[in-house]
Amino acid sequence: MAFEEIFNRPPEARVQAPGRVNLLGEHTDYNQGFVLPTLVPYFTYVEAAKAEGRVEAYAEAYQERRSRPLGAARQGDWLDYLAGCVWALGEAGYPVPGILFYVHSTVPMGAGLSSSAALEVATLRAVRSLYNLSLDDLEIARLAQRAEAAYVGVRCGIMDQIASSLGELGSALFLDTRDLHYERVPLPAEYQVAVVDSGVPRRLAEGGYNTRRSECEQAAKLLGIDALRELNEAPLDRTAGLPHLLSRRVRHVVSENQRVLEGVRALREGDVVHFGALMNRSHLSLRNDFEVSAPELDRLVQLALENGAVGARLTGAGFGGAIVALVPKANYRAFRAGVLAGYPAARFF
Ligand code: GLA
Repeated sequence: MAFEEIFNRPPEARVQAPGRVNLLGEHTDYNQGFVLPTLVPYFTYVEAAKAEGRVEAYAEAYQERRSRPLGAARQGDWLDYLAGCVWALGEAGYPVPGILFYVHSTVPMGAGLSSSAALEVATLRAVRSLYNLSLDDLEIARLAQRAEAAYVGVRCGIMDQIASSLGELGSALFLDTRDLHYERVPLPAEYQVAVVDSGVPRRLAEGGYNTRRSECEQAAKLLGIDALRELNEAPLDRTAGLPHLLSRRVRHVVSENQRVLEGVRALREGDVVHFGALMNRSHLSLRNDFEVSAPELDRLVQLALENGAVGARLTGAGFGGAIVALVPKANYRAFRAGVLAGYPAARFF
């Protein structure tokens, strides 16, 4: 089915937005810390046309058409992502009269590649193009995150939306989530960023994610600071009085921020081996101190390292989902075969 067949008219705008994978800097974005995502070559395509008084969309993935009056509340379905973007635009002073969307995506869902951020960014790009809104890519990312947090109701950070909106294939986006300053850092051309999905649904993700966020907020409060990021600018021993569990959570966030800074230096110096070692340390910290890994993810990381990756770690929120590994392109086929032999359910992106 195409736009014309669904809506009996041609689309007036056609845009796309990519998925992302995070290389370093996990569970740091909601602590005002540093992240280092890159893009993956999978895209969400949105076609759009003007309409009156409603947000209506057809999603190819669900082969379903849904409609909602402009300004209506969330309903807990996929249309929330699109209606949420239109809602966020209105809140920010860009009201639009209504819109028809057609959505098609190659970004795999549930594999930790941020299909939701890609959908939000593509939706906002479509509205921008259709109604000639003067919004830059950073504002698009901010509105996308607002749509997801305040309308869809997922308390995410801003990494995914900024990556999808501002990232470039072949380079990493070094982002300071406190002031949203970013720089693009080229990735080594002879290495492949491999994403390996465990197939374990991120069942606990939502509850676990929110618990980790609250633990970080609680630790910051006990320390009398606004966000854990501030500890990267002050001595660590300030955490000495925290309950043991919270001090481990803090240790992850502080050390992960340091790893991002060190990782950016390593990439600039062409030291891929050092970058890989930082990825490995990130995984251990996420597993031991932040406790967001799963046995399947640990197994995939181990297999990745045994089969030629210079570094591997869980990526995204954790509790299931995927790992990311850096693999010499020349060894990629052997890497894939080796990982698959030890973990037949693995899916490679
Ligand atoms: C999810 C969220 C991001 C970030 C990661 C963990 O992907 O959407 O904002 O918090 O988890 O690093």
